[in-house]
Amino acid sequence: MRAKWGSKLGFILATAGSAIGLGNIWRFPYLAGQYGGGAFLLLYLICVFVLGYFMLTAKLAFGRVAQTNLVDGFRVVGERAGQKVSPVWGWLGGWIGFITGLLIAAVYIVVIGWTLSYVIEGGALFLGLSRHPIDEHLFERLVASFGYQLFWSLLCIVLTTFILVKGVKKGIERVSLYLMPILFFLLLFLVIWMIFLPGAGRGVAFFLKPDWTRLGFTATGFDASVFFNVLLVVFGQAIYSLSLGMGVVFVYGSYLPQQTDIKSSARWVVGLDTLVAFLSGLIVLPAVFVFDLDPGQGPSLSFVSLPLIFAQMTGGRFLMFIFFVLLFLAALTSLLSICEASINLTMDMLKTTRTKAALCVAAVNGIGVTVILLSFTNIIGLKIGEENLFDFVNRVTGAYMMPLMICVCCLFMGWKVYPVIIGNLGQGSGHQSKTFKTYLKWVLCLLAPAVIVISALFQK
Ligand code: PFF
Repeated sequence: MRAKWGSKLGFILATAGSAIGLGNIWRFPYLAGQYGGGAFLLLYLICVFVLGYFMLTAKLAFGRVAQTNLVDGFRVVGERAGQKVSPVWGWLGGWIGFITGLLIAAVYIVVIGWTLSYVIEGGALFLGLSRHPIDEHLFERLVASFGYQLFWSLLCIVLTTFILVKGVKKGIERVSLYLMPILFFLLLFLVIWMIFLPGAGRGVAFFLKPDWTRLGFTATGFDASVFFNVLLVVFGQAIYSLSLGMGVVFVYGSYLPQQTDIKSSARWVVGLDTLVAFLSGLIVLPAVFVFDLDPGQGPSLSFVSLPLIFAQMTGGRFLMFIFFVLLFLAALTSLLSICEASINLTMDMLKTTRTKAALCVAAVNGIGVTVILLSFTNIIGLKIGEENLFDFVNRVTGAYMMPLMICVCCLFMGWKVYPVIIGNLGQGSGHQSKTFKTYLKWVLCLLAPAVIVISALFQK
């Protein structure tokens, strides 16, 4: 029997838990810092509400019709729509999604490992148990050590496997029901603290007021290459944040009872996910301005600058601890979803139990993390071109694999099985307006694939 969510609230929190992760609290603020603050935020909101919500809704319905894994899902839903479906769809959509999931898991676990080490170091410092200063060398020390990083990463794998073995309802859903409210509480606490810092106003203005030149609109005209360059990053961030580039949303949809209202659930998920990204921007960017640092410094913003900022603030040790607990909890519920998608397919393909599949996925994750760390710490010179494997996997999954997988799913849902998708969405959602139906078809058949293709063309 296929696993099922216990309640609509549990499903919404688990799916929001998947969406809300490193992408919101770590990636979103540094990208906003790099790509012009308010201009980035505006384009992001448009992208999420004009495209992201509709893609998420359709993909949940796709999973709910299929009631199986993503590779077989294309055939099953195709048959339901009376279509003959070539196995190429399953390879491109399902297997690429699966491989992307394993690759992203390895990188994601390494970063959660850093977060966990900051939680422990920050906690020890706050309690006066550690003498390690928080300085610019903290991160350098961490990323230089293979053994230290491997230890924290393996701990994360053990923790997630322990939860996943318990199942969908007793594992993922129960953990999300407890962790998500805690996460929101911590987030609100930090936002209120940060935006009332003296001098925070400049950072808030940077984040909220769009500077149109950053989107290519200048006094002399419109520079399309600037605009599409930002759109590429924004769209990539939106699909990453909504967990759209692998089998996760599909699999979570396949655990849904037929009577659940998908559209209203998806509105909650998108709303919560966007709210957390927005609030994270309000935590990080004002602080950066208060302490006169560069908002555009990229990925090191949370792991290098923020601890430096906290070190100079009253109550900073406590705040740093809270911030990294927040980041860790958010990342953990996302990692659960990434691994669940892999477990789901492994169970079906190897015809095995959840426990055995979870152990297989944990072993593969352990190997992935080890290889990535060997390359990242330069112990063995594993490089592709100039890049170590950490950067390479991050770039290739984000720029090519996730967009390709989404493109395949959208084209399939829009052109081949649309009546079945819209029929399933109608269950639990009541009457659907003609405008919604037409617009969703446009998104799947044309708009989302077009943005992906245009983004690919502007890829540097
Ligand atoms: N949405 C997660 C985040 O924002 O951190 C990352 C993620 C989870 C991406 C699951 C893709 C996925 F399938």
